[in-house]
Amino acid sequence: MTKKIAVLPGDGIGPEIVEQAVRVLRALDLNLELTEAAVGGAAFDQFEHPLPPLTLELAQASDAVLFGAVGDWKYDELPREFRPEQAILGLRKSLGLFANLRPAILYPELANASTLKPEVVAGLDIMIIRELTGDIYFGTPRGVRSAPDGRFAGEREGYDTMRYAESEVRRIARIGFETAMKRSRKLCSVDKANVLETSQFWKDIVIEVARDFPEVELSHMYVDNAAMQLVKAPRQFDVIVTGNLFGDILSDEAAMLTGSIGMLPSASLNEKGQGLYEPSHGSAPDIAGQNVANPLATILSAAMLLRYSLGCASEAERVEAAVKAVLAQGLRTPDIHEPGTTRVGTAEMGDAVLNALQRS
Ligand code: NAD
Ligand code: IPM
Ligand code: MN
Repeated sequence: MTKKIAVLPGDGIGPEIVEQAVRVLRALDLNLELTEAAVGGAAFDQFEHPLPPLTLELAQASDAVLFGAVGDWKYDELPREFRPEQAILGLRKSLGLFANLRPAILYPELANASTLKPEVVAGLDIMIIRELTGDIYFGTPRGVRSAPDGRFAGEREGYDTMRYAESEVRRIARIGFETAMKRSRKLCSVDKANVLETSQFWKDIVIEVARDFPEVELSHMYVDNAAMQLVKAPRQFDVIVTGNLFGDILSDEAAMLTGSIGMLPSASLNEKGQGLYEPSHGSAPDIAGQNVANPLATILSAAMLLRYSLGCASEAERVEAAVKAVLAQGLRTPDIHEPGTTRVGTAEMGDAVLNALQRS
């Protein structure tokens, strides 16, 4: 049966890196129908909306979405609903993509590319599970108003609402425990329960869900300590489950343990098995259009697409093995380049992955 994949390149380096991942998907002997559509600033320029109805409909009707990145400084002055970032937030919300998997794996060849000492990061393999459709990202009310009371009464104030419903915490906690069951059976829930009501509630629900998973060793950590522990001794972690905001920040931090944010893929899944796959980084406007962006996070996201949305585990492994082979050959985009390795551009990195794939 043909599988439908929506391809949404977006802004900045998005088109360059997605092009390489598309080449990889096309090189596999699978029955895929890839359809491209505009998203983010590119869509705003064309259709005056970052997530045009046709793009959303295409995503909804697809088995999976391959997404590049959105955003550029030139859109920062637009009213919020027209900013490129609303496209990815809108897709996550409309498709119900509540479970964001961000694996931070250090390939042995990149041990020296990390800013941390090789002995601290060697063998690193962490799965960060970030809740993606709740928290302060989507809580209402939010906005700017005249402060209603207290010391600042009458002044303007900005405000957002951090909130989680019980069912939202339960379903992401279950994903955390189920993932831990498939790995080392250790789960660390990260919160700020010493200060935030939402976090104490999160922790209480996670403890309740833990009763269904007696074989998993559950621990809790405050987010500030987790940020510190991730650089001090990252290998103490296996699976981390956390809310939307903390997960956003910790996954960027974890990315650097692996050498570059250009190495960190992600999968965002809903309850129906549909998924959106994107690198964890942004549109990197500072390096866009120069053929220097690392396409590996996007290619590895395509591997996650094969595994989680298409049930093609062996093809996913082939793509991951091709990435490893290319790193073993010493090919590096500038973000992971070090003395003794060969510097290549975005397209050449894509060529090398394709070659490795054809040899496998
Ligand atoms: P960013 O992730 O785009 O870039 C941060 C730094 O990492 C930059 O120096 C960039 O050059 C580098 N970098 C990122 N990806 C890289 C890659 N593949 N190869 C090599 N280097 C890479 O974050 P930012 O600068 O804070 O944000 C830029 C824009 O991207 C903003 O508009 C932001 O809102 C948006 N953004 C979008 C997404 C998304 O679409 N999901 C995610 C994060 C940020
Ligand atoms: C990410 C990004 C997004 C987020 C932005 C662009 C809305 O930083 O995917 O990590 O904060 O979730
Ligand atoms: Mn982020």
